[in-house]
Amino acid sequence: MGGPAAERAFVALGSNLGDRAAQLDAARAALASLPATRLAAASRVEETPPLGGMAQPPYLNQMVLLETRLGPRELLEACQAIERASGRVRTEHWGARTLDLDIVRYGRRHVAEPGLIIPHPELPNRDFWLRELAELESMSADPRPLTVPDLLAMKATGRPIVMLTCYDAAFARLLEQADVDVLLVGDSLNQVLAGRDSTLSATLDQMIYHAASVRRGSSRTLVFVDLPFLTYQVSVPEAIRNAGRVLQESGAHGVKLEGGRPMAETVRALVDRGIPVLGHLGLTPQSVHALGGYRVQGRDQATADRLFADAEALEEAGACGIVLELLPAALARRISAALTIPTIGIGAGPGCDGQVLVLHDMLGLNQGFNPKFLKRYAELGEAVRTAVRAYASEVREGSYPGPQHSFD
Ligand code: KIV
Repeated sequence: MGGPAAERAFVALGSNLGDRAAQLDAARAALASLPATRLAAASRVEETPPLGGMAQPPYLNQMVLLETRLGPRELLEACQAIERASGRVRTEHWGARTLDLDIVRYGRRHVAEPGLIIPHPELPNRDFWLRELAELESMSADPRPLTVPDLLAMKATGRPIVMLTCYDAAFARLLEQADVDVLLVGDSLNQVLAGRDSTLSATLDQMIYHAASVRRGSSRTLVFVDLPFLTYQVSVPEAIRNAGRVLQESGAHGVKLEGGRPMAETVRALVDRGIPVLGHLGLTPQSVHALGGYRVQGRDQATADRLFADAEALEEAGACGIVLELLPAALARRISAALTIPTIGIGAGPGCDGQVLVLHDMLGLNQGFNPKFLKRYAELGEAVRTAVRAYASEVREGSYPGPQHSFD
């Protein structure tokens, strides 16, 4: 298929009436012969019980990956035509059907139009869709790297930006496989990895070392790097040289720096030299002593107004996004609504255009740290202790290494 780049669309196929396997075969063939469309991959077919509690036969399900230049609405209409051709008549919402086609995902787009919501709102609730999607993604990862302009497009189309901190190649590989949009080599590494009590003593060389590792572990994910304390505040030329070093020596795509209006001239200078910049407002950890601790900012009107003006100044200076840390949810929502660049919140509520967490915190590897905003998605600290205890006891009792781990 020539011409402009096609989008990757994941379409779920389901049938529980008549010759179910033949219906899926016919649907795949019909999808493959749509104009400007290529059927790139198909998942395994699996049988699942009907949803919705109505008495009806089990379903055969499958998901396909299309590369298509049809828009989401055109693809929906094509799917509906294929359903009609299969003899499907729409009756009860959860009732039996010869063929059901659902667009589960369409590129990185977020669509909310009458009759068309993408990603499909039922995706998180259908285990079999999640399995099929993972299978297709493992067969053919999206080859197109995310770019800085994509961040602005994601804001424009309402698709939330998923960011996590990352400090090494091993985690970078895993986070990319899990479809994270942006990896932030945060100066939080000074606390998380180096065991310090603030970010203040992080150095530029340390950031470049970790950023280069993250870039070696990822190929499609955007990588931003924190400029550490005193590497950008002293003068604009120093900021340009240091940010330039980060991009040149690590291969990262952009830098993040803390502060609002006082930093606007620096942001403009970096952006004018082709260095993408993320801002950072609210609780700015490099100013922890001036702020009097790690606490929510902008609760009083004067500070809220100042933060709002700071956000506008960063956008005006050319920042491609702003991290909002520890802000009241209403203020973060108001700032996000006023800007055309995305906001990425941490402890700033659901009204931001994306979210970021410190990886080790959300994986349960930093167990003493339990702020209200943090959700732990795993308890890896416990998993590590259990694994290491098992290893230690096997070594002590002499059962590891066994013959299967030894060479003749
Ligand atoms: O350094 C860092 O990890 C950060 C995040 C908390 C946003 O700046």
